[in-house]
Amino acid sequence: MIISIPAETPPEENRVALIPPVAEALLKAGHEVVVEAGAGEAAHWSDDQYEAVGCEVLGDRDSVFERGDIVFHVRGPGTVESEMYPYRDGQVAVGLFAPYEIAEETLAELAARNLSVFSLELMPRISRAQSMDALSSQASIAGYKAVLMAAAESPKMFPMEMTAAGTIQPAEVFVIGAGVAGLKAIATAERLGASTRGYDIRLEVKREVESLGAEFVELDLETEGSGDEEGYAQEMDEEFYAEQRRQMQQVVPESDVLITTAAIPGAPAPELVSTAMLEQMDSGSVVVDLSAPTGGNCEPTEAGETIHHDGVTIFGPTNLPSRVSHTASQQYANNLRNFLENLLTDGELDIDLTDEIVDSTLLVHDGTVRNPHIEDDSDDDDHSDTNTDDSGTDDL
Ligand code: NAI
Repeated sequence: MIISIPAETPPEENRVALIPPVAEALLKAGHEVVVEAGAGEAAHWSDDQYEAVGCEVLGDRDSVFERGDIVFHVRGPGTVESEMYPYRDGQVAVGLFAPYEIAEETLAELAARNLSVFSLELMPRISRAQSMDALSSQASIAGYKAVLMAAAESPKMFPMEMTAAGTIQPAEVFVIGAGVAGLKAIATAERLGASTRGYDIRLEVKREVESLGAEFVELDLETEGSGDEEGYAQEMDEEFYAEQRRQMQQVVPESDVLITTAAIPGAPAPELVSTAMLEQMDSGSVVVDLSAPTGGNCEPTEAGETIHHDGVTIFGPTNLPSRVSHTASQQYANNLRNFLENLLTDGELDIDLTDEIVDSTLLVHDGTVRNPHIEDDSDDDDHSDTNTDDSGTDDL
């Protein structure tokens, strides 16, 4: 297989889809790797490093696309408005294609060009897919970075310390949503010595939160049916969220740092923290709302903005993994390598629709948009030209 690695063009995207050590492993397995000059620069991998392991580095972007049997991206086209990448008709592309947000015109064009597009956001949460789960590898990095951002901004130190000048009380960190990002945020806050609490609608994560040394906050809510077997939360009704916010009022104001990560795949983030609650926090408190890209868990959050409200700083980052570009690229490249291995039979591409991983992630194939998740929303979103796929994964 010839694998193409174009440079990432979306704004503020510092990651690269393949790093030299992972490229080396693919070359050893008999593949060829063609890289656009400068593709790894923002993740601190030089063209020389790619060449040293045997990759071909080309200055011309179109040639990089032209050469590949398969194109590896971090982010697919459509992120920069109306941008289409110079694919060769019939090519295979793998990356983060934002399947819930991607423009219909972009999808239609990918289908018209007969591409096979794999969108890694649609990876099923099954154990066999863990090594390919890019959302999780990247969310974990985001959870880590969110805590570091908060620690850097906070006027308080995180650890408790007994010094000659007196005892320093630990910072109070509260993490809402204990999925991948939230658990990493809890672990990071604990490592920094903060007094950490975690909360999730899915009570089954209580043990995981406690095993990290944090306290699990329990609210008095009827949470039956709040999670599915893959570890994803289901959307609850507004009455539930209103009660959740009411009870949250007691915990949020006691915190110096609030990290929010509550998410429901394919749906807007639930609003769990009101402006009034943030106003009750001490001056100098810091909020990092990781769910900012899908609307935020906090009322005043604005995606990509930092807000200062009543002495509280509210960060709404949209791409924290990109700020840890070296590690994030390393993890992502490993996910892609494992994904490719699963796609190949005897070194040849084999798009086997009976494989749950292939079936779930394949967004466009055979001239058709085949996304059961988008189909689910078709009533209100008018994705009327999408195919129905009764694969049984439509409750993701
Ligand atoms: P996840 O699905 O593993 O975890 C989300 C957690 O939120 C689940 O444990 C779920 O039970 C919980 N949750 C849902 N509704 C809740 C509610 N009402 N109350 C309490 N908990 C609730 O997702 P993951 O991978 O940890 O990602 C978390 C969020 O971070 C997502 O919105 C994701 O898009 C975002 N993210 C943001 C990045 C950034 O740079 N801003 C980077 C990576 C991820």
